[in-house]
Amino acid sequence: MDRYLREGSKWNSHLNNSKEYIINSLPNTKVNKVAILGSGWLLDVPVKDLCDHTNKLYLFDINHPKQILNKFKNHIKTEFVKIDLTNNLIQGAAESKCLNDFSVLLHRTKPIDSFYEYDFVVSLNLLNQLDILLCDFLLKKFKISNHQLIAIRKQIQTLHLKSLPKGKSCIITDFKEFNYMERSTIVKESNLVYVDLNIIRDKKDWLWEFDGTKSYRQKYNTFFKVIAGIL
Ligand SMILES: C[S@@+](CC[C@H](N)C(=O)[O-])C[C@H]1O[C@@H](n2cnc3c(N)ncnc32)[C@H](O)[C@@H]1O
Repeated sequence: MDRYLREGSKWNSHLNNSKEYIINSLPNTKVNKVAILGSGWLLDVPVKDLCDHTNKLYLFDINHPKQILNKFKNHIKTEFVKIDLTNNLIQGAAESKCLNDFSVLLHRTKPIDSFYEYDFVVSLNLLNQLDILLCDFLLKKFKISNHQLIAIRKQIQTLHLKSLPKGKSCIITDFKEFNYMERSTIVKESNLVYVDLNIIRDKKDWLWEFDGTKSYRQKYNTFFKVIAGIL
């Protein structure tokens, strides 16, 4: 939220593209239950359109801002669900005594299967948040090689994709990070997604001018390439 307030209108096209993609991918007829995964501050959630289109809008996040909970407390069409969308790997990472404990847990973890009961599910600017935050934590706790780290990221993202019910989900995610000093000279390009996104259809992509104050990466401005698609 702090960064959004700093960047102001530079985020608008990304937020509007996300909202528009969600609206355009909804089923044509009114549905019973829609789930938004990674709802957060609802900056990229077309709440009104979604509420017009569904009987109940379920908003999933590990940490719903209290201002958002307060704003919607009397709103009968919305329900906020607090959940770790890695299927509890955060708690598992906290309880692991060594990297092997966590690896065993990760390979035993199943995709979340409860989203099949929704009529439409949106994974919203969430996919790589799931591994980035968890891996930052693991890196502070354990010695991990780059190779191990990539395998963990890939497995976390794979579990998330498998949690999305096929034929009634869409995903919006940043997948590449670009760092630059001046706009014309990109000094670094990094991959943020470790799963094959070729499985999504009706793809649309755009650039998100994420940080123009060199606060996310010291000395560099950052933008992300974002992709949206139907599963
Ligand atoms: C980049 S934000 C998405 C933007 C968000 N829709 C908004 O408008 O603020 C990613 C969201 O994913 C949530 N998140 C990150 N890791 C999560 C996890 N393991 N389980 C559930 N939510 C998670 C964060 O709390 C955050 O709200």
